[in-house]
Amino acid sequence: MITKDTKKIGLSGVKPTGRPHIGNYFGAMKQFVDLQDEFHMHIFIAEYHALTTMQNGEELRESINNLVLDYLAIGLDPEKVTIYRQSDIPELTELTWVFNCLVTVPWLERAHAFKDRTAKGIEASVGLFDYPVLMAADILLPNADIVPVGKDQIQHIEMTREIARKFNNIYGDTFNEPEEHIVENVAVVPGTDGQKMSKSYGNTIPLFGTDAEIKKAIMGIVTDSKLPEDPKNPDECNIFALHTLITPEPQLSEIRKGYEQGGLGYGDSKKILLENYLMFIAPMREKRKYFEENPGIVRQILDEGKNTMQKIARNKIKEVRERVGL
Ligand code: ADP
Ligand code: TRP
Repeated sequence: MITKDTKKIGLSGVKPTGRPHIGNYFGAMKQFVDLQDEFHMHIFIAEYHALTTMQNGEELRESINNLVLDYLAIGLDPEKVTIYRQSDIPELTELTWVFNCLVTVPWLERAHAFKDRTAKGIEASVGLFDYPVLMAADILLPNADIVPVGKDQIQHIEMTREIARKFNNIYGDTFNEPEEHIVENVAVVPGTDGQKMSKSYGNTIPLFGTDAEIKKAIMGIVTDSKLPEDPKNPDECNIFALHTLITPEPQLSEIRKGYEQGGLGYGDSKKILLENYLMFIAPMREKRKYFEENPGIVRQILDEGKNTMQKIARNKIKEVRERVGL
């Protein structure tokens, strides 16, 4: 039996930049919930990171409020999980500064997010350039052991380990080297056009979209032009990839058979997916509505998260200050 004190620490965050989609959910957020019994989970709103791309205060505030509701709706249990806002923990920015003085410019230039941006001819802000260092502070401040994320975040976790190692080598053992936690079969959820589902590609199915939004997205999934009676390879079909996440057995096997033997058309496959999605999301919608109608409860949850994290942050930053000579 795992007792409370021997539990390892898990940590992750999502940027409040628009509404989460089912790629975010299956690639990252669902794991937060799946891990909440086994680990001491710390889940936060990555609002400082959002500032690297969002400069509209009203929109940011709205996204933050929505993300808190999303966290609670998907089943994060505040009794088990510390849910907090990054900006309630100013020690994170102090630690970022300490780390900034350890890492070099050429080393940070290797980061994918920065490279992609510059390749597109966009001048990166210093904040965007420094994104991986702030992320390392998020992870290392509470000494996380595991970090559930999607595959595209692996480089950031590697960079975090390098920062921890560098600090430990110079100042003595202070930080854990964390591991990423990736669920392989959902490592990349395809979007409605077959590319990786991403807010930046406009190919998403919004997790808490309205019925009409979800219908529009699912009915718009791109397929080849095979006829209903043609045999099809389910493993090459974007609709089927989403069925594997949402449609339960034995229906999933029946659909696979319908593809392989012919007889199931893409239109019908989409209709079944839509039906199953609406069933899957119904209980989460209900939960979301409950929290939406009870803002006092949400505020209290965030206050408790803030208090818990502030204690952890103050202790750790004290240790860091001593180590570096401040
Ligand atoms: P987006 O690409 O839509 O802007 P983010 O970069 O904000 O998404 O990602 C938030 C989290 O969701 C990250 O952990 C990321 O790895 C995960 N994620 C995003 N898109 C997908 C996807 N299509 N499949 C699996 N995981 C994803
Ligand atoms: N970079 C992550 C993303 O785009 C968000 C994030 C910020 C994060 N800090 C983190 C994830 C710390 C895990 C741990 O999804």
